[in-house]
Amino acid sequence: MRIIKAKDYKDMSRKAANIISAQVIVKPNCVLGLATGSTPIGTYEQLVEWYQKGDLDFSKVTSVNLDEYKGLTKDNDQSYYYFMNDHLFSKVNINKDNTHLPDGTEPDSDKACADYNKVIESVGGIDLQLLGLGHNGHIGFNEPADEFIPETHCVDLTPSTIEANKRFFASYDDVPKQAYTMGIKTIMLAKSVLVVVSGEDKAAIVRDAFFGSITPKVQASVLQLHPNVTVVADEAALSLVKM
Ligand code: GLP
Repeated sequence: MRIIKAKDYKDMSRKAANIISAQVIVKPNCVLGLATGSTPIGTYEQLVEWYQKGDLDFSKVTSVNLDEYKGLTKDNDQSYYYFMNDHLFSKVNINKDNTHLPDGTEPDSDKACADYNKVIESVGGIDLQLLGLGHNGHIGFNEPADEFIPETHCVDLTPSTIEANKRFFASYDDVPKQAYTMGIKTIMLAKSVLVVVSGEDKAAIVRDAFFGSITPKVQASVLQLHPNVTVVADEAALSLVKM
């Protein structure tokens, strides 16, 4: 695991965008695993800026997103479908047909998950998986549990995740209580993984996930076993770790 210390959020975003850019330049038809949440927003902004300058071409890129809330329509501005269009897909020349997320509008969880597993299989494996880190160590929506779940599954969100995400909704009650998420095996099979983390409120989980025991209680800890992980974290997020 490579840990890159960034000065602040902006620096973290630029460094992460550089790594994604390198992937797209080296392999223009790469498969990017993409993430939502507030942390990668600056990374996407930077990628859009470089695309606008003519430095990046997404025309051959395929993407698969980590997760989606169950029950939100695509035009709901809190759906991850909306987020990805808003922050990236509508702003670069990626072919929309080659962008994929779990279908949050599918009420049948088994079907939604089986369909998404087929999509992941059909794209032929992820070259670079971008990840944020939940306060409880979740990656995608793989919440603390007694096991690692390998493939796409429906998750009951923990109260702490609902609490953390309620800032985007009118109230706690409006936050969906379930989500579809890519599983841990799929993430671990990505050729490379890029984790972005920012802020003092993530310092304890950075320490536990990347320097503590490997346990499904802290799902991100499994990344310690991946052969090619880069964590780009700012000084505040690394403040409890001796580098
Ligand atoms: C969300 C997402 C994750 C994200 C995490 C952290 O609930 N499902 O993919 O990485 O929580 O979010 P943030 O970056 O806003 O702290």
